Amino acid sequence: MSVTLHPSDALAGLPPKKTLSAPHHSTAATRRRIAPRAPLFGQQADAAAPATGRRARATLARLRKVNEQLLQATLLAQRGQRQAELALNRQTQLMAVVAHELRNPLMTLCTTATLLPRVAADKIARLLEIIERQTGRMSRVIGDLLDVSRVNAGKLRLEFGDVDIADVVEDSLVTCRHAMARHTQTLRLELPSPPGSIRGDAVRLTQILSNLLGNASKYTPAGGEIALVVQRMPDAMVFTVEDNGIGISPRALLEVFDPFVQEQHAVKFNGVGLGLGLAVVRELAEAHGGSVEASSAGLGQGSRFVLRIPIRDGRRWTEAS
Ligand SMILES: Nc1ncnc2c1ncn2[C@@H]1O[C@H](COP(=O)(O)OP(=O)(O)OP(=O)(O)O)[C@@H](O)[C@H]1O
Ligand SMILES: [Mg+2]
Repeated sequence: MSVTLHPSDALAGLPPKKTLSAPHHSTAATRRRIAPRAPLFGQQADAAAPATGRRARATLARLRKVNEQLLQATLLAQRGQRQAELALNRQTQLMAVVAHELRNPLMTLCTTATLLPRVAADKIARLLEIIERQTGRMSRVIGDLLDVSRVNAGKLRLEFGDVDIADVVEDSLVTCRHAMARHTQTLRLELPSPPGSIRGDAVRLTQILSNLLGNASKYTPAGGEIALVVQRMPDAMVFTVEDNGIGISPRALLEVFDPFVQEQHAVKFNGVGLGLGLAVVRELAEAHGGSVEASSAGLGQGSRFVLRIPIRDGRRWTEAS
């Protein structure tokens, strides 16, 4: 008795299939017994060969497919890991920037606190002004960070009501006037007469305008000019904030409303800030169903921001008395 390997099994790499061949020394009876079986056995083998081949090819195809899937899964996992590493790096950098942004005013506050008990009475007002400015700066940074995370979590809520345009403009100028005065900048203000009102969230509209006016002052050299022009259009209230400051490059114009974007020359001119103000402005404008656009003729050519807040319901728009 000998053991042979079926050719199709060898090809398919399957374990050898044992087949029996008739011994040469078999008796006639045995031959008779075997003889009828021999052709039968041969037929079975011949018939089984294509089936075994098909099975082997199917197994191979399945193996190839599984292999491809494994490869794809590995590539996906590698890409996911790279993205996670990038996100972690970005997060760490942001933490450092935020810490820096908060540490500076905090240090000024600490110094002011140690000076307060020792300074002459006539200097106290000046120190209080510093405290007010630095706490304002810290709460703005924290407020912007909270707003961005609210937007990301879809939790930004507005409280709509009738908003008096004159009040919003006045409130938004409260903080900016100091900055403009410090930089001896002049402000031109144009309001419709009468200014009237729109439907919106008064606090958030004030926040938008303070951000735009704050930037105008921040990125305009001393002695520069800033303008806030409010126009009543048939379907929207349009607020234009313009300055003759450092301007914005055409490339940066496409990105300035994205979070954490700051142009290099702007950071050199005034390194304070996180690059969050305009991101919050855009979200708040859109939450009002409005829009905000930036334009500039280029570096050193000043900047212009146009905010449009729709007047949704004509009947709700009221003339101020
Ligand atoms: N009036 C402007 N003139 C020139 N560049 C501006 C002006 N306003 C915004 N930019 C550019 O857009 C970038 C983003 O502005 P944004 O207000 O979001 O951030 P920031 O002022 O740098 O910091 P933050 O507002 O968080 O304190 C600025 O860093 C600056 O490069
Ligand atoms: Mg800003």
